[in-house]
Amino acid sequence: MLELRQLSIAYGQARAVWDVSLHVAPGELLCIVGPNGAGKTTLVNAIAGIHRPLSGSIAMEGRDITTLAPHRFCEAGIALVPEGRRLFTGMTVAENLDVGSFLPAAKAKRGETLQEVLALFPALKEKLPSPAGELSGGQQQMVAIARALMARPRLLLLDEPSLGLSPLVVNAMFEAIQRISERGITIVLVEQNVSMAMRIAHRACVLELGRIVAEGEPDELMKRPEIRQAYLGI
Ligand SMILES: Nc1ncnc2c1ncn2[C@@H]1O[C@H](COP(=O)(O)OP(=O)(O)O)[C@@H](O)[C@H]1O
Ligand SMILES: [Mg+2]
Repeated sequence: MLELRQLSIAYGQARAVWDVSLHVAPGELLCIVGPNGAGKTTLVNAIAGIHRPLSGSIAMEGRDITTLAPHRFCEAGIALVPEGRRLFTGMTVAENLDVGSFLPAAKAKRGETLQEVLALFPALKEKLPSPAGELSGGQQQMVAIARALMARPRLLLLDEPSLGLSPLVVNAMFEAIQRISERGITIVLVEQNVSMAMRIAHRACVLELGRIVAEGEPDELMKRPEIRQAYLGI
């Protein structure tokens, strides 16, 4: 589904991601963990087309998309739920969701997709006419994910969706992500909540100082003492 080859990404002279090669299979839920500043956001932003890599390549469904214009990444079937949600807080929830389905193919199925998205997040139904900024943090995160799903992506990128949410809401969030995955959408999930993310991930990789330092099945990774110590404090 997604193939990164020796991807390096920089801010001016400062390199943030070094030679990252990664394969994500169709239907897979890959989790990326790592400390603050490791380059996780930089990496998913590059996969979403927001940040052009310095070198290396990004292929989606066998097609090289590395040098496409940013808006073409959405057409290629990729949607990002950015760190910090970035909702249009003065617009209603319904308007925020409409923004997600602006491309012709998504717009044609807007009604159908909205029903699917509301089935996934029933709490949003009665909030459709409310300004997004008036919703709770958890509900705003649901809107952010729902907005991305309105584009009918085949690859969904989630950057720290549980950040700043209460434990109860975090549980609901991970359940929703698991349900999206069960619908066959391929997911790359960046998370600080390592124990929760590892529970739903099919595969995980650890990014440190811009490089992949470990990769494997969650169960296998969680058995490694250095990973337990670094990410679970055990
Ligand atoms: N806009 C930017 N300009 C310059 N450096 C940046 C910018 N954004 C991030 N960085 C740097 O890139 C590195 C990776 O950051 P980031 O991708 O945000 O990490 P993470 O998401 O893993 O916390 C850090 O060293 C950070 O300081
Ligand atoms: Mg980040």
